[in-house]
Amino acid sequence: MFWCSLCFTLSILAHHVHLETSSNLTSFKIHSEPLREYSKCNKFTKSPTIPTITPRELETKDDPKTKKLSCISTPTTCKKEPYRSFDGTCNNLENPSWGAAKEPFAELVNNSYADGVHQFPETSEKEQLPNPRAISLLVFPPKNIIDFKWNLNTMQWGQIIAHDMSFSGRTTLINNNPVTCCDIKGHLTSDSAKNPFCAPIIIPVNDVVNKANGRECMEFVRTVSTKDIDCTSSKSPSFPISEVTAYLDLSLTYGNSRKQADSLREGRGGRLKVIKRNGGTWPPQAANVLQTCSGATTADEPCYVAGDARVNQNPQLTVLQVILLKEHNRIADTLSDINKHWDDETIYQIARRILIGITQHIHYYEFLTIFLGEDNMVRNKLIYPNAKGYVNDYNKNVNAAILKEFSTAAYRYFHTLIRGQLRLFTEYRFPYQSIRLSDWINKPSILEKNNGYDGLAIGLSFEPQDKSDQYFDLEITQYLLKGNQTLGKDLRAIDIQRARDHGVANYINLRSYCGLSIPKNFNDLCDYMSIKNVKALKSIYKRVEDIELSVGGSLEKHVPGTLVGPTFLCILIRQFYITRVGDRYFYENGEDKEIAFTLEQLETIRKGSSIARLFCDNGINIKSMQRKAFELVSPWNPVVSCDQLPFVDLTLWKDTKEEENSKCKDNV
Ligand code: HEM
Repeated sequence: MFWCSLCFTLSILAHHVHLETSSNLTSFKIHSEPLREYSKCNKFTKSPTIPTITPRELETKDDPKTKKLSCISTPTTCKKEPYRSFDGTCNNLENPSWGAAKEPFAELVNNSYADGVHQFPETSEKEQLPNPRAISLLVFPPKNIIDFKWNLNTMQWGQIIAHDMSFSGRTTLINNNPVTCCDIKGHLTSDSAKNPFCAPIIIPVNDVVNKANGRECMEFVRTVSTKDIDCTSSKSPSFPISEVTAYLDLSLTYGNSRKQADSLREGRGGRLKVIKRNGGTWPPQAANVLQTCSGATTADEPCYVAGDARVNQNPQLTVLQVILLKEHNRIADTLSDINKHWDDETIYQIARRILIGITQHIHYYEFLTIFLGEDNMVRNKLIYPNAKGYVNDYNKNVNAAILKEFSTAAYRYFHTLIRGQLRLFTEYRFPYQSIRLSDWINKPSILEKNNGYDGLAIGLSFEPQDKSDQYFDLEITQYLLKGNQTLGKDLRAIDIQRARDHGVANYINLRSYCGLSIPKNFNDLCDYMSIKNVKALKSIYKRVEDIELSVGGSLEKHVPGTLVGPTFLCILIRQFYITRVGDRYFYENGEDKEIAFTLEQLETIRKGSSIARLFCDNGINIKSMQRKAFELVSPWNPVVSCDQLPFVDLTLWKDTKEEENSKCKDNV
C-alpha cells in the first residue's frame, strides 16, 4: 500500500515535470504568462454574493422544451391520491411525468454537445477535451486532510440523498446485454471502438502507476438517453435518463414502481420484508449474489435487495439503508399497536409518509444547512426555521426534475468527503477494526460479522469526514471497484467524463447563469480561485471558455459558512429549491388536508426528528449518541444516553375517530 502510494506521488511529480510534452490528451502545457497578471489572486478577500432565486426563475410552465420531454407513458389525467405514487407520476397533477422515474434530467443552461445533440463536447477550437484522468492527476491529487467539525455520517447521508434523487440510466434499461468497453484488467474490449455506448477513459502516458501495470483504459459506459428510447428525434438535443424519481421520497427504500414496492413488502402489519440472521435484522437476500454483489466471493454470503440497486455499494451506505428499513418497520409496528383496526395498506402508507417526513426534515434542517449555510437557505426560501404552522410554498409550475449541473457536477464534488479507511467502534467509542474501502465495495457481508453494523454506525458518527477540498482519497481515485485486481478506477476522472457524456454546459456559462462575474481570461479567474489553481487550469485548457464545470467549480474557494464555492452553491441552492417547492407532498405543505400532517403531527416531526434518533432507534445495541450526529463529538456535543434525545411522538397518529366508529358498529 505504502509502495503504491509512493508510486502515485511520483507519478504526480513526474506529471509536473512533463508539463511541456506535446499531446493535449496526455499532459498539459503551461502557457507562459507573467506572474504579475495573477496579482488579483492575492487580493481575494471579499466573498461573492450569490443572487437570490427570483420568483419565476425556476418555473418551467411555459418552456416548450421541458413540456414535450416526457418519455414514459403517463396517465393524461391524474386523480388526487392521498399517498405519493412510487414512480413519482402525478405528483404534479397538470404535468404527470414531472419528477418521475425513467424521465430525462433537466438543465439550467443549454447542453455543450459538439453536435448540439449527443456527441462528446469539444474545445472552442473543435479539438478533443483534455484527458479526464490526466486532469484528475493534476488538480485532484490525494491528500488526506480531515474535517475538524463534521463526521463521516455527513458524507454518508449525502450519498443517501444522491441515491434518492438521481441514478443515471444504465444500458439494462433498454436491453439485457450489459456493455463492457474496458475489462477488469484495464484492456480495451472489441466493443470499445464500435459500441456507441463506449467511451472508455484512456490511460494517459504520464499515469505511471497504471502504465506500469499494463493498463490502457478505465471502464466508462455512456448513460442511456432520450435518443436511445426514441423519446427525442435524431436532430434535437438528447437528455440522459434518470432511473429513479427526482423527489426526496425515499425511493431508495420503497422502490421506484408499484411492482418493485410490492416485492419489498411483507404483506402484513404495513411492514417491509426483512430477514433475521447473525443476530441482526437485514434487508432480503439477493437472489443472484455473485451478480448483484460483485465483491462477493461466495454465492451464499450476505447481499441485499432494497428500493435502490446501489444498496450494496459500500458498507456505510448499506448501514444507513438498513437503518431506514428498520425505522419503517419500527413506525409500522407502533402504528399497528395503536390502531388495531388499520389494515396493512393503511399502516404501510402512513408509516411511509411519516418516514419521508422525518427524513425530509433531517435533509433540509439538519444536513443541508451544513453544506449550503443556514442564511443562504433562509434567504432563498429553502427553510423556515421559525415556522409554527404549515409552509404552503408548493408551486405547480416548478418541475422538480434533477438538474444535470447538480447531479453530474456540483453534488459529485462531495466525493471529496470520502475517506478510504473506515474504523469500527464499540459502544464506548473504542476502535476495534479498520478496513479499506476498496476491499468492501459491493460486499456488505462485513455488516453481519464482528458487530460490524453497530461498529460501522458508531464509526460514522465518531470519525471525521475528509475535508471538502480539491483533494480526493486514493481509495476512490486509484482503487475504486478494483475487485481482485491491484488497481481500479478513478471516480474523479469518471465524474469529469460523465459530465461530458451528459453534455453539461461549461464553467463560464454557469457563472453567467448564476449572475456571477464572467471571466474573460485566466487572470479573471483569480476572483474565486488560488493562483496555483488558475495556473493549473491554464496548463489544462487553452482558453478560459473551455473550462468544464466539474473541474472549474471544484477549484473555487468556498463561500464562508458553506462547503462549496459560489458556482456550485448557486446550483445546489436551485436544485434543493425546486426539489422542495416542486413536491406537492413535501412534509411542511398543508394546502391539501388529505395529504398534510395535522399541525400537531408536523410539530412533533420538527421537534423529534434527528439523525441521532435514527441511529439510537435502529442499531442492534446502540445506547448512546451525540445530539448533533452530523457533528463530531466534543465538549459542546457530548455523547449522551439515547433516552435523552427528543423523539417523534407516534401516538399523535392514533386514529380515535375510526376506532370509535368501529366500536359503535360492533355494539349495534
Ligand atoms: C463511499 C462513498 C461513495 C462512493 C464509493 C461513490 C461512488 C460513486 C460512483 C461509482 C458513482 C457512479 C459514477 C458514474 O459512473 O458516473 C457515483 C455517482 C454519484 N455520486 Fe457518489 N459515491 C460515494 C459518495 C457520494 C457522496 C458523499 C455524494 C454526495 C454528497 C455522492 C454523489 C453522487 C452523485 C450525485 C452521483 C450521480 C448519481 C447518478 O445520477 O447516477 N456520492 N458515486
